[in-house]
Amino acid sequence: MVPSQDDLKRVAAHRAVELVESGMVIGLGTGSTAAHALDRIGDLIRSGALRDVVGIPTSEWAAARAAAAGIPVSDLNAHPVVDLSIDGADEVDPALNLVKGRGGSLLREKMVEGTSRRFVVIVDDSKLVPRLAASGLAVPVEIIPFGWALTLRRLQSLFDGVPGFNLKLRTASIDAKATTFDEKGSDSEPFVTDNKNYIADLFFENGIHGDLRVISDAILRITGVVEHGLFLGLASSVVVAQKDGVVVVVV
Ligand code: A5P
Repeated sequence: MVPSQDDLKRVAAHRAVELVESGMVIGLGTGSTAAHALDRIGDLIRSGALRDVVGIPTSEWAAARAAAAGIPVSDLNAHPVVDLSIDGADEVDPALNLVKGRGGSLLREKMVEGTSRRFVVIVDDSKLVPRLAASGLAVPVEIIPFGWALTLRRLQSLFDGVPGFNLKLRTASIDAKATTFDEKGSDSEPFVTDNKNYIADLFFENGIHGDLRVISDAILRITGVVEHGLFLGLASSVVVAQKDGVVVVVV
């Protein structure tokens, strides 16, 4: 039987959870792939195979899922050093740079995963891309609501002259994981993040070209931008579950 995409997500998640040891502080990721990791950690705690594990959720969703799974949670103030984070990604390039945040979480993910000794990304093979954002899907940027239209104009100016660049304020009704610029409505309320911010979705018709660190820094220099969904150099390794049943760990 051909494994479903969700089967592959589960396989990758379970492989990564093999790295969790008793006593660890674990960054708990957000999304449909991370859900399998959280549930698995919960099962291992319940069976007694894991003890004294503390989870640091990367979103309100992850906090709720951890509670349901029976994982004790804390925060970065109490645990500023995280032993291991496990999370999904929207895209992974050959250098293990990521796009994250199409589900709406990125700031807390970057804070937790950026302070982790080890950050293991779990994906099915559909997430591997030769170039970030070339699928026509968004690079999310979390912005503060105050003056959001001005911040969008500044983001637009930054990429003026880039062929096929577009951006939109994310609205509550759209599915950013499947929606390209052209299909993206702007007729409902803004999407609001866990941090009470908005999201600007940036679209690069031909993918992002150029030095990603330079682009990252330029986005972050815009007043009103809080963080973006380019995760550069943060992943320690990526566990990829492939359709042929083979699990590859890319380091
Ligand atoms: C949440 O906003 C994201 O950063 C997720 O990590 C990413 O969207 C991957 O989610 P899935 O595992 O559901 O594809």
